[in-house]
Amino acid sequence: MLLCFDDEQDLATRLARELGRPMGVITRHRFPDGETRVVLPKPLPSDVIVLRGMQHQPNDRLVELLIAAPAARGWGVRHLMLVAPYLAYMRQDMEFTPGEAVSQRHIAALLSTQFDRVVTVDPHLHRIASLDEVMPRGRGVALSAAAQLGRFIAVQVPGAVLVGPDEESGQWVAEAARAGKLEHAVGRKVRFGDTQVQLAFPELDVRGRSVVLLDDMASTGRTLIGAAREALERGAASVDVAVTHALFNGDALPALRAAGVRHIWSSNAVPHETNAVCIAELLATALRRK
Ligand code: R5P
Repeated sequence: MLLCFDDEQDLATRLARELGRPMGVITRHRFPDGETRVVLPKPLPSDVIVLRGMQHQPNDRLVELLIAAPAARGWGVRHLMLVAPYLAYMRQDMEFTPGEAVSQRHIAALLSTQFDRVVTVDPHLHRIASLDEVMPRGRGVALSAAAQLGRFIAVQVPGAVLVGPDEESGQWVAEAARAGKLEHAVGRKVRFGDTQVQLAFPELDVRGRSVVLLDDMASTGRTLIGAAREALERGAASVDVAVTHALFNGDALPALRAAGVRHIWSSNAVPHETNAVCIAELLATALRRK
């Protein structure tokens, strides 16, 4: 059975259809004191997949998972898998200031105590190469939507040049470029705070060219806004944006448009109005192998 939460049924419906599995819905109620009641469908089969993205209020979602998983086990589930298309806390991957917990390690370890497998899409693997470094070997499975995004971009903007705003994006941009047979380049970024970033655009002549910026996620959008401004100042004919994870917190979306970005596309790893690429088949193919 595929279980999803009440606020995230669209991707779950598509995934259940791809897998040919029944779908159940976990409902929630917020008590006046902020606690959450979690209600699972019963009875449950012995093999269950829980689909839960950890975007927006990741702490609430984490607690909901930490309640739902042992409850499911208590009702006879033997094999329990988490599909978290967006896995939160992956960017806190070092002690940036003395005493700062490396949350990536601790959250990944916590999830792996509850689930036999954790499947995710384009997790922010920057200072670690694989989820095996933060979970027991083989428990974490990282998929990528980059190839799908690359093929999508190649159809939308033939001859586009793909630009990754920073070094981390190099892995996704290279894969997207390969799949879409597009030229690509990667810039550099220095972050000074949540919304303060300085971008160094790649050494690339973009005059008159269609530039598509590609990244794993847009949160405040400041990384992409900085790169878009640079591309336009350097004479790009158009700038579009594609991301796997459409967090787009706060004013990110209008600010990107105000910076001159034409199209904004995302995968449906995070439900959002910009969703243009569906990852149901990508997930289903991987899940059939597990
Ligand atoms: C980090 O380097 C990521 O790959 C993204 O570039 C970053 O998280 C985007 O954050 P924001 O949209 O807040 O600039």
